[in-house]
Amino acid sequence: MTEQENRKASNHWRSSIGFIAAAAGSAVGLGNIWKFPYITGQNGGGTFVLFYLLCIVILGLPIMVAEVMIGRTTQSSPVRAFQRLSAPNSGWQVVGMLGVFAGILILSFYSIVAGWGLHYLFLSIVGGFPQGNNPQAYTDLFDSLVQSVRLNIWWHSLFMGITIVVVLRGIRGGIEKFANWGMLALLILLGGLAVYGATLPGFLPAVKFLFAFSDNFTWKSALEALGHAFFSLSLGIGVMLTYGSYLQRHDDVVGTSIAIAIADTIVAIGACLVLFPIAFSVGLEPSAGPGLIFINIPLALLQLPWGRIGLLVFFVLLLLAALTSAVSLLEMAVSFLIDSLGWSRTLAASTMGGFIYLLGIPSALSGGSGFFGAGLKQLIGMSWFDAADYLSSNWLLPLGGIGISLFIGWRLNPQLRTLEFQDGSRLGSKSGLYSGWLLVVRWLSPIVIVLVMLYNLGFF
Ligand code: TRP
Repeated sequence: MTEQENRKASNHWRSSIGFIAAAAGSAVGLGNIWKFPYITGQNGGGTFVLFYLLCIVILGLPIMVAEVMIGRTTQSSPVRAFQRLSAPNSGWQVVGMLGVFAGILILSFYSIVAGWGLHYLFLSIVGGFPQGNNPQAYTDLFDSLVQSVRLNIWWHSLFMGITIVVVLRGIRGGIEKFANWGMLALLILLGGLAVYGATLPGFLPAVKFLFAFSDNFTWKSALEALGHAFFSLSLGIGVMLTYGSYLQRHDDVVGTSIAIAIADTIVAIGACLVLFPIAFSVGLEPSAGPGLIFINIPLALLQLPWGRIGLLVFFVLLLLAALTSAVSLLEMAVSFLIDSLGWSRTLAASTMGGFIYLLGIPSALSGGSGFFGAGLKQLIGMSWFDAADYLSSNWLLPLGGIGISLFIGWRLNPQLRTLEFQDGSRLGSKSGLYSGWLLVVRWLSPIVIVLVMLYNLGFF
């Protein structure tokens, strides 16, 4: 790789803070604010949280370093990156292609959940929630939203529209600027909500739930924690690789990756520290499942002082998080079109954005009684939405993770690997850290991921 192959200046982050904000923006998403709290609730709290943190540090962080490093080294989008580091027709490029496919699929249903967030933000503004302590009314409200074709398509259109506009504006003027402001606002809002949470009577029970050992931690919880660590850090499909490709050749990889993982973890734990006190304060359990933030939280908050403002702030926070993640997923697929097919950004972003928008429509119809919802449920046991989620989270992400690990661990030229790990990073030049990292990408990560997949196939 020569310096001439470096990208043009406008194709680089303006600053490393910008990179950290964008990558943390990708990592912090619905996974942190919607999913992490409810799976923590379902898996009993403390032990699950501890195990999740271990997964982040021991497995997630090394893979993140690997991805960002491939990006920085090749200055290329996923498919080309693998071609450059092996051979133009090498089978390794399939890892990149799989990633692009997974990213497209994930964004197509991610936008539907984000759309529910938009609808709830709208309801918080206009005051469209049922009165009083009436759980059934809140469940009905959510169910009717999930079933409504019109509402799902409308909010999906708006969410994808905003995402496309940000990506159209490019790295510096679009993604980086949006991430800088968005992440700053997100942290302020989360801080505000956490202070509010600390004033509630449910705060102490919530802290106890979150940090005390629990007894309903099972094998299944362990695997769920592992899979979620991958999802939450946006790993396995080349999103971090793409963002890494906009770093300068000698920017720090190890240090910035650590910062990103810390930011992601703070927001996940922070979201629990906001949501659990609210639930506990009105006597609700946090184990409500996917409906936690759409049913229990509005129900609980609107019975508490300042609840309406709290709810509004919460949904703004959720949307900021979702948007910066959606932008990263679209950018990955767009950078593939630009890099591999030579398209302009405008053409690539509008075509790819439009395609993902259309692919999202079956997901938007998945709560309904038509073919993509009830019909598929009868045929294959899950709706289109569920199938897209299942396929990407349980298969494509882990497969991509294995591919990246094996490539870095076994295929990449060892000299280049050592050099690239150390380049630009004070931490990276500690030899113990390098050997530990290599051990993880070579052995630990592929083995553990295969175990998870065997489990998903029903082996143990
Ligand atoms: N990490 C994001 C979240 O927590 C979602 C996401 C964005 C993602 N890009 C990704 C997940 C790439 C997997 C791969 O919501």
